[in-house]
Amino acid sequence: MNLVIKKTDIDEAEILFYPVLKDQQSIHRLVKNLDYEDQKLVFDKIAKAKFVGNKGQIFTMPDVEQTVVLLGTGQEKKLSMQDWREIAGDIINYLKKFEVKNLGIDTTTWLRGNNDIVSLGQAIAEGFELARYDFDSYKQEDEQKIKIKLENIFILSDKAVQFRKGWDMGLFLAEGTILARDMVNEPAGVMTPTFLAKQAEQIVKNNKNITAKILDKTEVKKLGMEAYLGVDQGSNEPLKFIHLVYKPVAKAKDKVALVGKGITFDSGGLNIKVGDGMAQMKIDMAGAATVLGLFSVISQIKPKVEVHGIIAACENMPSGTALKPGDIVKNMQGKSIEIGNTDAEGRVTLADSLAYAQKQGIKKVVDLATLTGAVMIALGPDYAGLFSNDEKMSKQLLKYADQAGEKIWAMPLPQEYRKLNESLVADIRNIPNTRYGGAITAALFLQEFIEENVAWAHLDIAGPAYAEKPVNSYTGVGGVGYGVRTLLEWLRNL
Ligand code: BES
Ligand code: ZN
Ligand code: ZN
Repeated sequence: MNLVIKKTDIDEAEILFYPVLKDQQSIHRLVKNLDYEDQKLVFDKIAKAKFVGNKGQIFTMPDVEQTVVLLGTGQEKKLSMQDWREIAGDIINYLKKFEVKNLGIDTTTWLRGNNDIVSLGQAIAEGFELARYDFDSYKQEDEQKIKIKLENIFILSDKAVQFRKGWDMGLFLAEGTILARDMVNEPAGVMTPTFLAKQAEQIVKNNKNITAKILDKTEVKKLGMEAYLGVDQGSNEPLKFIHLVYKPVAKAKDKVALVGKGITFDSGGLNIKVGDGMAQMKIDMAGAATVLGLFSVISQIKPKVEVHGIIAACENMPSGTALKPGDIVKNMQGKSIEIGNTDAEGRVTLADSLAYAQKQGIKKVVDLATLTGAVMIALGPDYAGLFSNDEKMSKQLLKYADQAGEKIWAMPLPQEYRKLNESLVADIRNIPNTRYGGAITAALFLQEFIEENVAWAHLDIAGPAYAEKPVNSYTGVGGVGYGVRTLLEWLRNL
């Protein structure tokens, strides 16, 4: 896909898109500028079609040499980065029905209010790439959807340098997101801890400023990660503990750890999941997928901080060797955990992966985990719950999530609820003694393993990691790659 940016008319495009505001006057002005001989006829047709610029409304102008399409945005005044992402997605979805090689978009009609052309280029690239995504590698070729064979994209803009800079950034952010989507969509029979580790090794091979340590069971035992080992012990698949390190070229300003939940399949263990509760549990490594997707493009984004990616990957399976309710395990900090329910396994593995992150001397830690069904009860399917002990970190993540168009909501971490996780026989229990506030009590469980002087944020992504219905024009059903873009935006601004 070749990007061509032009200052004036783009005759080369077979089809030309004009995003329009929901505003009669501006529609009028736009049509006037498109020198149609019979203006009245055009206006009549627009009126007859009841095209007013509503979001998703499309109007194809009467035939001339070039197909001209008006695309409603639903916005009345100005377009945000998210609007442009969705416009790009709408265009791709429109093109899925035709075979178009040369496409044009007039971005000069309605620029972002602040004329930030870098962000505009980035948003359009993200929307384009993400909307084109489809996980169909298991389908026979004739059942696969028609692939869009775009060759050239013509953009009408007088700020080519800025547009292209943003465009390139958007392509990288989308690429990382797409790798994460692929990993989440891959069936658990393929996406084992070993396969995850191979993906990490592949990332290292492609990037000279990333190194990796992959630990196996013997090494994990030596480190004393009994909690993680406990979750793993019912499975036949060997566990893999993955530790990636990205180092910037110049001396790092700071160190950050990104910790991903990496349960490659969550059957529930002996507290086996019932009904259709297990059907989608290949997605329980989505946190890990986000970390790996992010690492796959981090060298192109070039944050100035050292970034550690940490994943305790294993399965949660029932068997004769599985962890039993009532068992007690210790994490590598020596804290004992009573297993009240083997299905609350994510927090048990995180007790060790968070401890390991802090042992590296890292004072900024963010974890991503498909941790609780309760967060979906609280926030619905599209929002991640954000829990943090650090106001500054929390504010930054909210800001960059908003910029990335990833939905997030700050949740409380009320210390008076800590007692809900108390155990009679161990330092803490992995299920609380109430069924209310399950996303909060899970986050409070994690906080017990965070040291005083460490800034930490936990993203419960059980909802947005996987889309059961399309979320927007560029996010279809399946793995979403949630968090890759938010965290990359955050890292590159640290
Ligand atoms: N992986 C699940 C959480 C989950 C549920 C993720 C639905 C995505 C979609 C987690 O390990 C789990 O089973 N949590 C239990 C905790 C309970 C036993 C305290 C839950 O949410 O029911
Ligand atoms: Zn579980
Ligand atoms: Zn789980």
